[in-house]
Amino acid sequence: MRKEIVEQVIKNRDDFTIKSEVENLLKQMTLKEKIGQMYQAPYSATELVGPTWNNLDTEGLIKEGSVGSILSLSDLDSIYNLQKIAVEESRLGIPLFFAYDIIRGYKTIFPIPLAISSSWDTDLLEESCKIIAKESANSGLHMTFSPMVDLVRDPRWGRVMESHGEDPYLGSEIGKAYIRGFQQGDFSKRDAIAACIKHFIGYGASEGGRDYNNVDISRHSLFQYYLPPFKAGVLEGVASVMTSFNVFEGIPATANRYLLKDILRDKLGFDGVIISDYTSTTEIINHKIAADFKEVAQKCSHATLDIEMVGTSFIDELEAICDENPEYLELVDQAAARVLTLKYKMGLFDDPYKGMKDKGEKLYLLPEYREKAREMSEKSMVLLKNESLLPLNRETKIALIGPYADSKNVLGFWNGLGEEKDCISLLEGLKNAGFSNIEHLQMELDQSEVLDEKLFGEALTMASRADVVLLALGEHQFNIGEGASRTLLEFSESQKKLAQEIKKLDKKMALLSFTGRPLILDWFHENMDAVLQVWFLGSESGNAIGNILSGKKSPSGKLTMSFPQNQGQIPVYYNCLNTGRPLDRNNVHRFCSRYIDSSNEPLYPFGYGLTYGEIEYEKLKLDKREMTPEDSLEVSIQIKNTGSHEAEEIVQLYIEAETFSVSRPLKELKGFKRVKLKKNAVEKVIFKLTAEDLKFHNRDLEYVNESGKYKIYVGKNSRDTLVETIDFKNFI
Ligand code: BGC
Repeated sequence: MRKEIVEQVIKNRDDFTIKSEVENLLKQMTLKEKIGQMYQAPYSATELVGPTWNNLDTEGLIKEGSVGSILSLSDLDSIYNLQKIAVEESRLGIPLFFAYDIIRGYKTIFPIPLAISSSWDTDLLEESCKIIAKESANSGLHMTFSPMVDLVRDPRWGRVMESHGEDPYLGSEIGKAYIRGFQQGDFSKRDAIAACIKHFIGYGASEGGRDYNNVDISRHSLFQYYLPPFKAGVLEGVASVMTSFNVFEGIPATANRYLLKDILRDKLGFDGVIISDYTSTTEIINHKIAADFKEVAQKCSHATLDIEMVGTSFIDELEAICDENPEYLELVDQAAARVLTLKYKMGLFDDPYKGMKDKGEKLYLLPEYREKAREMSEKSMVLLKNESLLPLNRETKIALIGPYADSKNVLGFWNGLGEEKDCISLLEGLKNAGFSNIEHLQMELDQSEVLDEKLFGEALTMASRADVVLLALGEHQFNIGEGASRTLLEFSESQKKLAQEIKKLDKKMALLSFTGRPLILDWFHENMDAVLQVWFLGSESGNAIGNILSGKKSPSGKLTMSFPQNQGQIPVYYNCLNTGRPLDRNNVHRFCSRYIDSSNEPLYPFGYGLTYGEIEYEKLKLDKREMTPEDSLEVSIQIKNTGSHEAEEIVQLYIEAETFSVSRPLKELKGFKRVKLKKNAVEKVIFKLTAEDLKFHNRDLEYVNESGKYKIYVGKNSRDTLVETIDFKNFI
């Protein structure tokens, strides 16, 4: 028998054994104990920040079997003690599982997810997530609430930093890499953890970019753009899915049976655990679809929610609901079975103290972990402009000025248990990279983002002595992420003023932009010699930036969200539909789709990013001009590095569907490859496209192929591409 088949047989046997063990266990459980599995408790009110929760006696509840899992507890002794209570003092000794938002690192902190996605490096990401899982699993954690696979188009929304940008295909590939790295095909393994994709679904479309706001998208948009990364995650075997805070068609996602049962469970075939977001159950009272906790429990349970995070409607009300209406007994049985199955798959029935024993062992921030974080950080940065300034000679006289000049506050939001003391500041990184002639001025930045203008004089004097000014500006590291939506997408007035004053000295200047979202960089684009988007990179921030600035590494990241030219353009994203009156640059008139005071184009488009090399694209070829569903299309292109530096280029393939039953985007990403190119190297890059890649959702939401013409584009970003055409014949 082939190896995979043997493994499959064993896997099936395991699944079968688990199923019967879960059934046996369920038979021994009281209704109250089953409902207990459906409650995820915060360990203590002091450990968490959130709108509401009951300050409950968690330990007492664990003893009576009313808690299934614990949220956000990180202290290993406390984790161990709670597990001991569950195993030794509850009637059936069912272990708890412990979940934490290990979004991009436990102690070794990797870049924010939006930055990670800009690396387009799924192999490196998988490797990185193995490290993240190892640090977490060996700290007594069993599940992470990552990756967030929400499609985003509005940089006002603080949570774009947690996303993989505006493209469903790239978002799917990146999401799958996280899951593979965290779960490693079997999350009962010692060094693996269960993943959770979130937030199901539509949260990224919050109106006006305001967090927790209303969402109004069509079913077609949902299926075509927002669903693919979730579908990909389910196919990758993700353990869990988290619901979102928003409504869909007027029903909050957490209580939306159409979303959870009809789409997620029945259509996508997800048989794992669905968990609510933090109190998103009881918030349906604010959404005005439930009057009290009883209705909350009824509606969320009916929607097939398995675990209520922090809210207590299930443990307070479900027993009585089942007494009144026995139909709910079945829903509770199914939910409890799914949670218990998850615990079996986590290996907790074999070893409830998994990962809790080796207290004190040095497992964090190992040199090889830092090295991976550094590599990911290097690949996450995006060079947006470079007028022959970068890389810098190590002897260059540098004035390093701004709030991120020598700051260790570079973790950004959702930073696990990362500590600033373990981060490398930019100044330290530049020194480590061998720069020997640096003067620096660290200017503090609190959340108001106002600089102390009394320091401007010193900044100007320092700048006037230098050959090159490096301006390290940005958002405050906590002005990004959940609850940090913005209406003004610019650097703060005082940071802009600092830049403008220094500009008057007529020095060579580069902006290093520390942000968690696309900001409006038009002034900087006009006035700087170089602009490097550095995001928030985590533990290895300074070293990674130092390596890029010195030229030890060539920048290679490419944007996964368009950077607008101005706020009024938002949302601006590459994969938009055409209009009936598209803008024709050669014939601009009043009645076409445009603004009277701005172009339609973003400042930097999706997929954009420069390297230190000069990459030329030529000889785009298709191996056929017509194809049917049985064929696959080979697309090849030649790329050449004509510059004077080595480079790594992300080659991108897009399609444009010409005439179909529904309007489809002007461009859709369908493939990408990272290619290393030495100086003067020439590489042929080959993509394969199949009929599956050309499928889309029709008006009836069926996922289909139709006959029609496609343009095939290959290029360095979504704007600068070569193009060829193929006729697709779908004979069905
Ligand atoms: C966030 C989730 C997160 C949860 C638990 C919520 O506020 O929306 O993404 O996983 O808190 O910390």
